[in-house]
Amino acid sequence: MCGIIGYIGTDNGVDYVLDGLKNLEYRGYDSSGICIINSSSQTNLIKQVGGIDKLVQKVKTIRPNGKLIIGHTRWATHGKPSISNAHPHFNNDHNIFVVHNGIIENYLEIKSKLIDRGYKFVSETDSEVIPNLVDFYYKKIGSLSEALRMTLDDLRGTYAICLVSTIEPDKLFVSRLGSPLVIGKAGNKIFVSSDPSAITNRTKSISFLNDYDVAQISLKKIKVFNQKDNKPSFAKFEIINQRNEQNNLGDWPNYMIKEINQAPEVVELAIKGRLSPKHQIKLGGLDDVSSQLDHIDRIIIVGCGTSYYAGLIGEYLIEEFSDIPVEVELGSEFKYKNEPISRSTCLIAISQSGETADTIAAINKVKDFGVLKLGIVNSIGSTISRITDAGVYCHAGNEKSVASTKAFIAQVTVLSLLALRLAKIRTKSFDNLSEELLKLPDKIRAVLGQSDQIQKLAHKYIKYKNFLFIGRKYNYPIALEGALKLKEVSYVHAEGYSAGEMKHGPIALIDKTFPTIVIATKGDLYKKTISNLLEIRSRGGPIVLITNFKDQKIKNMVDDLIYVPESHEETATQIITVALQLFAYYFSLELGNNIDKPRNLAKSVTVE
Ligand code: F6R
Repeated sequence: MCGIIGYIGTDNGVDYVLDGLKNLEYRGYDSSGICIINSSSQTNLIKQVGGIDKLVQKVKTIRPNGKLIIGHTRWATHGKPSISNAHPHFNNDHNIFVVHNGIIENYLEIKSKLIDRGYKFVSETDSEVIPNLVDFYYKKIGSLSEALRMTLDDLRGTYAICLVSTIEPDKLFVSRLGSPLVIGKAGNKIFVSSDPSAITNRTKSISFLNDYDVAQISLKKIKVFNQKDNKPSFAKFEIINQRNEQNNLGDWPNYMIKEINQAPEVVELAIKGRLSPKHQIKLGGLDDVSSQLDHIDRIIIVGCGTSYYAGLIGEYLIEEFSDIPVEVELGSEFKYKNEPISRSTCLIAISQSGETADTIAAINKVKDFGVLKLGIVNSIGSTISRITDAGVYCHAGNEKSVASTKAFIAQVTVLSLLALRLAKIRTKSFDNLSEELLKLPDKIRAVLGQSDQIQKLAHKYIKYKNFLFIGRKYNYPIALEGALKLKEVSYVHAEGYSAGEMKHGPIALIDKTFPTIVIATKGDLYKKTISNLLEIRSRGGPIVLITNFKDQKIKNMVDDLIYVPESHEETATQIITVALQLFAYYFSLELGNNIDKPRNLAKSVTVE
C-alpha cells in the first residue's frame, strides 16, 4: 500500500523518481506527489489526484530540476484522495518534507498537542504530524537527525519514512518500523524505495533496512543507527537478482492478462532445478533446516487472500503425501488466537509480496516458541523471506496486476514440491504428481488457447450481478479463488463455496438470476459434485461447468461447458484456476473496469 521513492545524486533525478513511482503505482494509485530540492535549496512540491501519468504531465509543464527528491503514490487510509491529503507532507515553515507508508495510530494525540503549540494542519492524514513533530524537536535541539529520532520515539504504529529538508539539502533521512524500505546504490546515485522491484532497473545493489533502523544518506556516506539505543550499524548491500522484464507490458494491453499468460513459464521456473525428470526433489532453500523438517509433527500454514487459498490447496497436498496434519489460518485471525504451539510445529507463511502485515504478524507471534518458520514467498529479499528460518521462492517474477494470478500458480506449484519433499515414501501418487508437474506448463498453454471461448462466455454472462462458485476437495479452494478474482476485478458479487456445503444455506440464493460455476474434475468426487449441479439445475439456476472429464451425459444438463486438459486432481487446480482467471479478466474487460488497478484495492497490504 502506498509507495515511496527517494533519490540523492549528482544528476537531475526527476525522471528517475517519476519512473520509480510508475513502477510503484500498483501499490496505490489514488494520488501522488513529489518534492524536489534544487541546488539553490529551493523546493518544488507537486501533487496530483489520480494515477502517476497525471503527475508526470504536471511535472513536465513545470520542468523542475533537482538532485534531492522524494516521491509518493498513495492508497488512502486517513482522508479521501485529494491534493492536500497526497504526500509529501510538510511542516508549517515549508522546509521539512516527508513521505510516509503505514499508519500512525496515535496521530490524533500528537496532532492535538502540536495544535496547542500553535501548529496548523492542512490535511486529514496521520502522516502530516511527522514533519511538524520533527520541526518541533528541531527547533528545540537544532539537529535534524536527532529531531527525527525523537519523533520516531513518539510514534505508535507502523512506518516507512523518507524525509528531506532545505535545512540539510545534501541528505535523505529514512526509517522503518513494520513497513518495508530499501536503499539502492548505483555509483553517484542513491535511491530509496519501499519496494526493491521499483529500482532494480537502476541498481541491483540493495540494502534492506530493518525495523528501527534510521539512516542518514548523503553521497559521501550512509550512516545507519538504531532508533531505540542510538547504536550505529551499517547498510549491508547485497546483489538482488530480480528480472526486470516484468516491468514492461510489451504487447499486452495490461498486466493481468500478461501475468495470466505467464503461467506456463511460471510453473517451469518454479520447478526448474527442483524436480528432476527422475522425480528427485531438491529444494535448496530448505537444506539448512533439513533435519528439523524431518522431525515436525504439525504444520500451520498462514496467508491472506489468494495466498491463503493456495495454502488450503497446500493442506490437501501435504496431507495426501505425508502423515503430517496441516491447518491453514488467515494471518489476520491467527495473530489473535490463543493457539497452543509446540516446538515440533512448522509454520509456513505464504505471500506473494512478502510484506503483508497480517502474515508478518502471524510469523512474529510464534517467534519465541522455537518453531520452524518457513516462507513461500515471491518477492526476493522481502520482509517475510528475511524473518523466516528458511523457505522456497516462487520465482514468478514481479507481479504488477493488483489481482494475483501467476503468483498463485507458482505458490501451488511450490506447495506441490513441498508435499513431495515431505513424503515419507514414494507411492504411485508421488510419481503421478511429479509426472504431472512436468506436463503442467503445456496443459496450461492449452487453456490459454481457449481464451476466445472464455471471453465469449464472459460476454454471455455479463448481465448477471451474482455468481456462486462451487467445488469439492482441491476444487473447493479454487472455487474460493475464482469467486475472489471475479469480485475483485469486476465488482460483482461472487461467492465461493464447498459444493457439499451448498445445501446448508447458499442454495437458498439460487434462481434464474444467480448462475453457478461448477468445478468438477475426473475422480472420486466427480459424481458427488454433479449431484450438487443437478440440485441447482432443479431450482432454475444457470450453470457453467468447468471440467476435465468428457462425460457425454452432462452436456444437456448445463448451460455452458468448458473442457480443460485432463490431469490428476492435484495439478488440475492450476489448470482450472487459469480458466477462472481468464473468466474474471474478460468479465472486467467487458465492463470497462481498470483491470490492473481495481477500485479500493492495493497490491501488498502493509497495514493491518
Ligand atoms: C487477490 C490478492 C490478495 C492477496 C493478499 C495477500 O488477488 O492479490 O488477496 O493475495 O493480499 O497478499 P500477499 O500474497 O502479498 O501476502
